[in-house]
Amino acid sequence: MKNKITDLLAAQIPELSREEIAGMLEIPPRQDMGDYAFPCFKLAKLYRKAPQAIAGDLLDKVGHPSYLSEIRTVGAYLNFYIDKAQYAAALLDTYRSVPEFGSSEIGKGKTICIDYSSPNVAKNFHIGHLRTTIIGNSLYKIFSKLGYKVVRINHLGDWGTQFGKLLVAYQKFGNKEAVEEKGIQELMDLYVQFHEEAEKDDSLNDQARAAFASMEQGDPEALAVWEWFKDISLKEFLRIYDIMGIEFDSFAGESFYRDKTGGIVQTLTEKGLLVESQGALVVPLDEYDMPPCIVAKKDGSSIYATRDLAAVLYRKATYDFEKCLYVTGQEQKLHFAQVFKVIELMGNDYAQNLVHIPYGLVRLKDGKISSRKGNVIFAEDLLNESINKTAAIIEEKNPNIPDKEKVARIVGIGAIMFNDLYNQRIKDVVFDWDKLLNFDGETGPYVQYTYARASSVLRKIGEPASDAINCQLLTDDASLGLLKEIERYPQVIQEAADRYEPFLVARFSMDVAHAFNKFYQECQINCPDPELRTTRVNVVKIARYVLKDSLSLLGIDCPEQM
Ligand code: ARG
Repeated sequence: MKNKITDLLAAQIPELSREEIAGMLEIPPRQDMGDYAFPCFKLAKLYRKAPQAIAGDLLDKVGHPSYLSEIRTVGAYLNFYIDKAQYAAALLDTYRSVPEFGSSEIGKGKTICIDYSSPNVAKNFHIGHLRTTIIGNSLYKIFSKLGYKVVRINHLGDWGTQFGKLLVAYQKFGNKEAVEEKGIQELMDLYVQFHEEAEKDDSLNDQARAAFASMEQGDPEALAVWEWFKDISLKEFLRIYDIMGIEFDSFAGESFYRDKTGGIVQTLTEKGLLVESQGALVVPLDEYDMPPCIVAKKDGSSIYATRDLAAVLYRKATYDFEKCLYVTGQEQKLHFAQVFKVIELMGNDYAQNLVHIPYGLVRLKDGKISSRKGNVIFAEDLLNESINKTAAIIEEKNPNIPDKEKVARIVGIGAIMFNDLYNQRIKDVVFDWDKLLNFDGETGPYVQYTYARASSVLRKIGEPASDAINCQLLTDDASLGLLKEIERYPQVIQEAADRYEPFLVARFSMDVAHAFNKFYQECQINCPDPELRTTRVNVVKIARYVLKDSLSLLGIDCPEQM
């Protein structure tokens, strides 16, 4: 509304900018003085006229748009009275303008690749990986809502020298039964043991390098063991994705590019971008204030960056992406800056469409979480703990709801996701059970609870007689306030996509939940008057849709009862 009034005035006062006019608009201290007031004192000098007279002139010029019930002058002020019913109607028009409110076709025909989650084989899926998984999944939902085709890529960390180490460790200290029984945990233990032993006996490192080199050359025996480790790991990862309701379109990880890294070295050589440095092949980047990008090690083996270079070319050729996003911790900022720069130096102007999307750390309420040795925290344990804690809360609060276990899962997982997505990505996430599972706090469960409340209202009252909404009956603050929040949804989604920031959607869902609860408290929904009841029930239906839909963009489901 403020924008509209600003536009109205700006058309008559070309001497002032829109911003200046918006800055001058006041909200009067009393309702009878209107919803907005525009003081004309400042204009007196400009027009060499008394401010009262200017207010009168403006009144004649601005006309009478339908969303205003009245414009009046009081002294040097122009007072605007909003026609609330018209305003409500305008808000509802926005809601009705698309079949699936919030969706758009802006991304139609365009593809976005999102590289996220991407855990490392034979390593635990830690809470840092939870963040990339949750953020990446939400970006997938957000871009899909805008009509983009999204390719969800899990760039598994399944290649590299560490597998040479693991192979040697397994041959020297491991056994089949232990790996079969303990899975990733055993592989991690072997890896730790390798490092302990290698400190005493450096030749182990040489053996590990040789083992990886043999993998790169396709030694079937080495590859069979590696393949087995990979299967074991993937099984554990899939279990986690399953709990979270997350899927991928591609699991082409680092090993997928092992036969494509040679091509990268060749192209870089042909383009004269490679130089030799201490036996390794590197692309110097000092001109761009970065250390050189290593492409091949002394023994010719590829590294993380080589495989990422190959992945960019492959993805461009395969998906012809509009953008390719990489969701990882901020400690990989330099790595991606180097890779993107090398892609650019190779002459690919689409390098500018490669975007690194970093995020902050996860901390437990007391101290940082480490994923190395000792106190390792497995994401799966955390997810299960959340589900169990939620089950206990439900048992206490509402033990008679159907599908209790499923509800505990949806709410427990939702709480973790919401907590992760409620602030800017780059901010650290603090893990505090009491906070994130508080059903009355700024939490996922609170928004889900609000949705369940809306569902319960509809169950009790039943389907409304029609979908008619009488806007004359929605002029109170609570109703109008709720509609105002809802109307922002499309803009919020667009901005979240532009900034790669799901927290905007999370905040929005919270705002709608607050506004809905105010409406619920102040406006009796099951009221005696049939027209008023139908109108209100239809507003509940709209709010319910928006609550569910916005949470779904965060990857969060909504139970009907909780
Ligand atoms: N596996 C890496 C890690 O766990 C993340 C991979 C990110 N994606 C990529 N294309 N480099 O840190």
